[in-house]
Amino acid sequence: MTAAPGPGARRLEGRLIALGVTGSIAAYKAVELLRLLTAEGADVVVLLSPSATRFVGPLSFAALSRHPVESDVLDLLPDGRIGHIVVADSADAIVVAPATAHWLAAMANGLAGDVVTAAALATSAPVVVAPAMDGDMWTHPATVANVGRLREAFGYVVVAPESGPLASGQSGVGRLAELPAIVDAVVEALDSQPIRQPDAARRPPITDGTPREADLVSRRIVITAGGTREPIDPVRYIGNRSTGRMGAALADAALARGAAVTLIAAAVEVALPEGADVIRVESTAELRAALRNAMASAPAPGASDGSDGRIAKPADALVMAAAVADFTPSKPQDRKIPRAEGLTLELSPTPDLLGEVASLVGEKRNGKAAPILVGFAAETGSLERAPGKVAAKSIDFLVANDVSEAGSGFGTDTNRVTIFDRSGSKDELPLLSKREVADRILDRVAAALDARDSDAQTAGMQQPTSSEGRSR
Ligand code: CTP
Repeated sequence: MTAAPGPGARRLEGRLIALGVTGSIAAYKAVELLRLLTAEGADVVVLLSPSATRFVGPLSFAALSRHPVESDVLDLLPDGRIGHIVVADSADAIVVAPATAHWLAAMANGLAGDVVTAAALATSAPVVVAPAMDGDMWTHPATVANVGRLREAFGYVVVAPESGPLASGQSGVGRLAELPAIVDAVVEALDSQPIRQPDAARRPPITDGTPREADLVSRRIVITAGGTREPIDPVRYIGNRSTGRMGAALADAALARGAAVTLIAAAVEVALPEGADVIRVESTAELRAALRNAMASAPAPGASDGSDGRIAKPADALVMAAAVADFTPSKPQDRKIPRAEGLTLELSPTPDLLGEVASLVGEKRNGKAAPILVGFAAETGSLERAPGKVAAKSIDFLVANDVSEAGSGFGTDTNRVTIFDRSGSKDELPLLSKREVADRILDRVAAALDARDSDAQTAGMQQPTSSEGRSR
């Protein structure tokens, strides 16, 4: 027996509800239905049939649901999973509202030509259907038979349309049921079943987050991105799989929050945001030189006094998203090595660039304006080494992910990370878009900078100035 929810309890808390919308004039009402479902605590993912997209665009649904809208049965999610199957396997219920006569016929016959029928066919979750159509279509024997089959053979809950004025100008039965009645039917269909998929990583990815305030104005943030290339000879190099997506998302997010951004880009496969001060590098040695320059108090060559919006002052934070080679050829050749000569490479470890910056900063800590340092760790299989890296590198935050996990590796638009901090605590984030991960990291950086400044201010207030000393 389960306890009845108390007054004001959200009846769909923690549930994932798939909202299928098909091509009826009532499709616009689905936006309000989505709002009502989320007000009940549901996480909602929207599926649009091709004809629904002619009545309502996917944008409002995407913005309100915070998930990519699925409208093509052949589309894959940004992380490569098959969208309608992920929905079918993880949703607690599928609600089709409005359902057209055509959709009812396709469903009754198992024709999976659109994402809504495909997800419904592939799921074992309850399906709630709210038809809307012209009165004569609703009473046609074909529709009556199809609705009967959905109810009796498939066990679907059908929330019958109501009587009233129709799009045709006539009056009759065919209007989409009242939205609260559809929400009630979903709640009832779920009864006290456990949540099917509580793991957010197995649900459809979340695409966006709350827009942030301009909380990084007058901050200068250095971000490194992409993978370094270590020269073997003028033609060949040792590289890695980094695409620069995470670093570009960080730069984009920092700019949107008002920061001045220096973006040191090693090899990247994505467009870099306009507005960042981009410095291109190839090898770890070049990255090291650029990093020293960018972090330094002296303005980098070409940096301005701030009159053009670029701020020539020491960096307030470093976010080290670049995949830096751990080894580099000991003796790179300045001519191409002929194949006939054969090749045995001798590699030397590279300096730990983040560690180097941290030890320079270490000398400045103790109340001074030391920059906040963020490292990344791409691990495989487990994150157990991550807390040790925060201490070893003496950094403020380490963003660790398991690159062997689906949706979290190189070249994806999503990432599932855990943020470790100096105090030893960790924040395990769900699968998010890289842009949202960037904002979550910058939330920490902005808060740490504010704390740093207020500490410095308090220390300044407690320290009597020499003139105060004399007047006492
Ligand atoms: N990093 C760096 N210099 C290097 C290697 C890595 O600054 N030569 C930075 C990376 O940009 C990243 C962080 O250090 O932000 C952690 O990288 P990772 O390769 O996980 O750390 P390592 O200490 O090299 O550990 P591992 O033994 O896993 O290679």
